[in-house]
Amino acid sequence: MKDLLRTSTSLSEGIEQILNLQAKIESDASNKYLAMAAWLDRNGFVNTAEYLYKQAEEEREHFLKVFKYITDMGGIAITPSVPEVQQEFASFREVFDIALQNEIAVTKAINKVIAKCRAENDYATEDFMMWYVAEQREEEKNARRALELFELINENEATGKFALDVQIAKIG
Ligand SMILES: [Fe+2]
Ligand SMILES: [Fe+2]
Repeated sequence: MKDLLRTSTSLSEGIEQILNLQAKIESDASNKYLAMAAWLDRNGFVNTAEYLYKQAEEEREHFLKVFKYITDMGGIAITPSVPEVQQEFASFREVFDIALQNEIAVTKAINKVIAKCRAENDYATEDFMMWYVAEQREEEKNARRALELFELINENEATGKFALDVQIAKIG
């Protein structure tokens, strides 16, 4: 039965599996940003919260894009489970330390998908994944910019936190 199914798709089982993993990673990223947005919101950083709510939606789009690609290619897209995500953060800055680390991890995961595409001569999926390569370049840059602002604006000065909230929100 499995072999029969495979005749209707050019995706190998390995590629289908790694794409489903990437879908889950994007879905997790969406939930992580949502929790960060909520934390910012309840701590008074309303502008940055808005930015990360949008970021959460973008990650949801990234998730759906892979998810639909799998089905479009005749594969089986698996709805990812929703794990617990970090809800509390030590500081405003910690949110962005974690955000950058998450984005770097996503970039590495995307590179793995592409490496597998190359190993299996799956040019269609490699071509599809290139959109994510460009997207990650932007996402990493934005997360780094946020951390840069923490260096430029003194968080501990009277209006420092407010200035940071306004400036970080402008990145997106
Ligand atoms: Fe993403
Ligand atoms: Fe991202």
